[in-house]
Amino acid sequence: MKATAKAHTNIALIKYWGKRDEALILPTNSSLSLTLDGFCTTTTVDFRADLTKDRFMLDDQPVEGEAYRRVTKFLDLVRQLAGKENLFADIHSKNDVPTAAGFASSASGFAALAAAGTKAIGLDLGNQELSRLTRQGSGSACRSIFGGFAEWEMGSETDGSDSFAVPVAPAEHWDIRVAAVVLSSTMKKVSSRAGMKRTVETSPFYSGWIDTIPQDLNEIKQAIHAKDFDKTGSIAEANCLKMHATTLAANPPFTYWHDTTIRVMQTVQEMRENGIPAYFTIDAGPNVKVLYLPENEKNIETKLRSIPGVSDVILSKPGQGISYI
Ligand code: DP6
Repeated sequence: MKATAKAHTNIALIKYWGKRDEALILPTNSSLSLTLDGFCTTTTVDFRADLTKDRFMLDDQPVEGEAYRRVTKFLDLVRQLAGKENLFADIHSKNDVPTAAGFASSASGFAALAAAGTKAIGLDLGNQELSRLTRQGSGSACRSIFGGFAEWEMGSETDGSDSFAVPVAPAEHWDIRVAAVVLSSTMKKVSSRAGMKRTVETSPFYSGWIDTIPQDLNEIKQAIHAKDFDKTGSIAEANCLKMHATTLAANPPFTYWHDTTIRVMQTVQEMRENGIPAYFTIDAGPNVKVLYLPENEKNIETKLRSIPGVSDVILSKPGQGISYI
């Protein structure tokens, strides 16, 4: 009872930032992302009758602690769904996410685990069902089931039955590019899970964030369908700034930004003033992702690499959804 699946990470253009139910991972807002081809996780799950607990190897290293607990907890859901509560698995994962690229591997990781785990145990789930299940491993992962642009519809049911991602446009729809700008210095990290919780509970700006999401989502979907780069980029950049503004008003306040983060943001804005279309977005960390069009790739890469404090720039195209190997 063995299966292997591959999934790519995604970058949110309209961010998921806040939960209404922490156990089921139900969000307070819908979100929209682009799946990226440059960053993926390949996972093999092998359910074996001779095992008395799950074993999890990541990049050939045994994993224990919190990361192990999240994986087995997620496989419990898979076992429950299949009615095979006493069957344990050997899990082997390989991350092709360049180290420190600032992409949480949890999105590609849980998407690949859900796909491989369900197939290995004999379940035959459609993508919608798979996305709903994946959501319970890590919220943003539910969007990585699909390639290209995907929207995670927040839903309204308390059991989470209507909270899953749906495709918006496939990877082939539009060759928009993303440069991951990696900074050389790191800083103490507030995880996205802890950061969004603190923000929901304490930030007076949080209601403003929620109020403006429906409009951002509507407009960005129109812009994506019309392949309107300036509109797509400016909505994504403004949405990212709004998300980060909520953290500044949290109690205690915090920010994911760094001096170099701001330098990259300013460089992107200067590029625009000089006629090179580029926009940024930032997740729960100091690294910046820059959206651009293929014809400007060389120019943009050179500019980004010349910023003091930038250690690497990794370029990516739109990527595909989950696949089985
Ligand atoms: C800022 O999906 O990592 O990247 O559901 O608690 O696992 P959990 O959180 P996670 O949060 C991602 C937050 C974000 C925005 C986004 O990807 O939409």
